[in-house]
Amino acid sequence: MRTVSRLAGIPPTIFATMSALAVRTGSVNLGQGFPDVDGPAEVIARAGAALSEGHNQYAPGAGLPVLREAIARHQQRHYGLSPDPDTEVAVTTGCTEAIAAALLGLVEPGDEIVVLEPYYDSYVAMIQMAGGVRRPVTLHAPDFRLDPAALRAAITPGTRFLLLNTPHNPTGTVLTRAELEDVARLAIEHDLIVITDEVYEHLTFGVPHVPLATLPGMWERTLTLSSLGKSYSLTGWKIGWATGPADLVGALVSAKQWLTYTSGAPLQPAAAYALDEAGGFPAELAADLAARRDLLCEGLAALGLAVNHPEGSYFAITDIGSLGWADGHEFALALPERAGVVAIPTQGFYDSDAGRHLVRWTFCKQPAVLEEALARLGKADLRKH
Ligand SMILES: Cc1ncc(COP(=O)(O)O)c(C=O)c1O
Repeated sequence: MRTVSRLAGIPPTIFATMSALAVRTGSVNLGQGFPDVDGPAEVIARAGAALSEGHNQYAPGAGLPVLREAIARHQQRHYGLSPDPDTEVAVTTGCTEAIAAALLGLVEPGDEIVVLEPYYDSYVAMIQMAGGVRRPVTLHAPDFRLDPAALRAAITPGTRFLLLNTPHNPTGTVLTRAELEDVARLAIEHDLIVITDEVYEHLTFGVPHVPLATLPGMWERTLTLSSLGKSYSLTGWKIGWATGPADLVGALVSAKQWLTYTSGAPLQPAAAYALDEAGGFPAELAADLAARRDLLCEGLAALGLAVNHPEGSYFAITDIGSLGWADGHEFALALPERAGVVAIPTQGFYDSDAGRHLVRWTFCKQPAVLEEALARLGKADLRKH
């Protein structure tokens, strides 16, 4: 048979498949990471007003100035960075488009991209579409820390990029300043460009998030990506952004113009309002999520599952070996029928076999939903037989 797709060998995103399975089986969905309570009402009201007040035509390709300026102020307020809103900030259709446009705009066919494994699944598809070659560095269970020796070993003369993600999906690892200093040292030594996905930047639990771009010598080689969705519980808005030196942001915008050209105009002033005027929301959400993480992790541990202690993000990881299973996919497919709960197997986020026995659960749901899931799991026979 002919191979016609640039995406040959890449399965459809597991999140959609598992969410559909949850709906079909009436399961509690602890798979896909989206909150079940919307973000700030006043932010949503701004978007509604923009729709009815006539902000319904194309925004400039790089985003409305009002949002680019708010993003620049956000980077200044939180991290002491001062990107020029005209040339060093661009608005995208979620971080997903920022990832796509960054890779399509920067990667030459054959370039190697070192990426943390397990990876967010769009990285694999986009590296392949851009003609790049991924070089995974594994964060190993149970603590999922970055091993600088493994990072160094993954870099070859053909490596041009690092694609980083902190706070990290799916492990919840938040890279420490010391770990990021190792990354920075290697990036400078090998003259690498770093694309860093920081969508969970505000969702950390008692540990600080350090943007790589704040480390000495890193601003000029780092393209930082983020979005409104996770920080403000507005995942459906798909308003994201990139900040960094003008040449890197410019390359991203060049690719973006052929993807979406421009992103949701009526949502952009509301996103600016969120960053400027509802800045307290993400910290409250993080405090709330920390309690929900504890609820879920303690509950899973009580069921006999070995579970990690995520420091950020929406997710916890369990080792299902403790229940006699070796294959997360098999476990996740049995779970709706056995317990009426959906979770995500992680092996699709690895090139290696290191995640075969691991399953991801989201805790970005209301406590009552988490309790219902745990009650269902508690009544079910979860052991492999
Ligand atoms: C690590 C990571 N990057 C990017 C995204 C996508 O962000 P957005 O919804 O803003 O496109 C997600 C969403 O789950 C994610 O977990």
